[in-house]
Amino acid sequence: MTVGEYKPGLEGIPAAQSSISYVDGQKGILEYRGIRIEELAQQSTFLETAYLLIWGILPTREELKQFEDDIRYHRRIKYRIRDMMKCFPETGHPMDALQASAAALGLFYSRRALANPNYIREAVVRLLAKIPTMVAAFQLMRKGNDPVRPRDDLDYAANFLYMLHEREPDPLAAHIFDVCLTLHAEHTINASTFSARVTASTLTDPYAVVASAVGTLAGPLHGGANEEVITMLEEIGSVENVRPWLDTSLERKTKIMGFGHRVYKVKDPRATCLQGLAEQLFEKFGHDKYYDIAIELEKAVEEKLGHKGIYPNVDFYSGLVYRKMGIPEDLFTPVFAIARVAGWLAHWKEQLDENRIYRPTQIYKGEHGNPYIAIEQR
Ligand code: ACO
Repeated sequence: MTVGEYKPGLEGIPAAQSSISYVDGQKGILEYRGIRIEELAQQSTFLETAYLLIWGILPTREELKQFEDDIRYHRRIKYRIRDMMKCFPETGHPMDALQASAAALGLFYSRRALANPNYIREAVVRLLAKIPTMVAAFQLMRKGNDPVRPRDDLDYAANFLYMLHEREPDPLAAHIFDVCLTLHAEHTINASTFSARVTASTLTDPYAVVASAVGTLAGPLHGGANEEVITMLEEIGSVENVRPWLDTSLERKTKIMGFGHRVYKVKDPRATCLQGLAEQLFEKFGHDKYYDIAIELEKAVEEKLGHKGIYPNVDFYSGLVYRKMGIPEDLFTPVFAIARVAGWLAHWKEQLDENRIYRPTQIYKGEHGNPYIAIEQR
């Protein structure tokens, strides 16, 4: 076997063949199963998009209704999972709580019957149904409240916001939240999806697949950036301070959170959609001064770093949208995970279709033939 050239971060190295999504980073195009993201954001719903990603076709009206009904039926979590979550420290990060809870689902439901299409469908339904309930439950329990039961009369997005805030959401906010989920549902072989595929390739259960992907998404260079964007905007504090702050950050070689992408060298199309959604929210619920700071920062970063292809990514405007909906900052990444479960499951299923366990090689840079030194002689 010949060993190929080493590329840190596997940049440019294909790690899978996939028909799930497509990105053209030069033109700023993202498609799910060949359909442009802008079209899905305008016309689809998150659950319809999840169906499209996982099964590769748009569902008929009956198929969609059945899928939505199945998910609605499975939204509740077992008391034993809720009790386990109650033992989590309230100071813990909700992504860690989500990773542990997703893995715990495997204790109850894992049968590893991967060749059985019903098993795959049941796991898809359970994960899509229960992950939002677990995110909302941890949020309420860490505040000392009991989690609220999911409401069967509310759709997917509205029910999550209801469970989180213990009141029915405004219909515009619920609609915008659903669009946010669609925008975050899938994005080719990014770090967490790669993690999901590697885990899937060992033929472990889908709960372990999602738990490993959640752990990967949590990092600040990946999904965790949306949380840091708000901290950054608060630190900047005013439109006047944008340029001095940026100059200092660039002098210190600090990465500007919410900017840059391994694939996009123009503005991420999801950032453009999210910016539009933020504007709709501000129009209805009042302006946010951090939006003005964000707009000025986008202009200033483009002037300074546009030549390197550094533009806003999906995380830049999502935090402003979620904040306006009253979602706490450390839940931004769990909310990202609620959406991305759809993409991870699509990759899980695709990986199983033509599985070969991931086992790349390495370039050994250590020593050979060293003697073992007895402990008393070290
Ligand atoms: N701010 C300032 N400079 C940047 C930024 C940034 N956000 N991103 C990249 N650059 C610069 C680098 O300093 C480097 O410059 P150099 O060639 O002069 O050394 C050049 O652009 C290439 O950057 P890399 O870090 O090598 O690019 P890479 O593809 O490895 O990283 C990443 C992509 C991790 C997203 C990076 O842009 C980053 O750290 N951004 C900030 C964190 C962020 O927003 N993450 C969310 C990404 S979207 C998602 O995961 C959902």
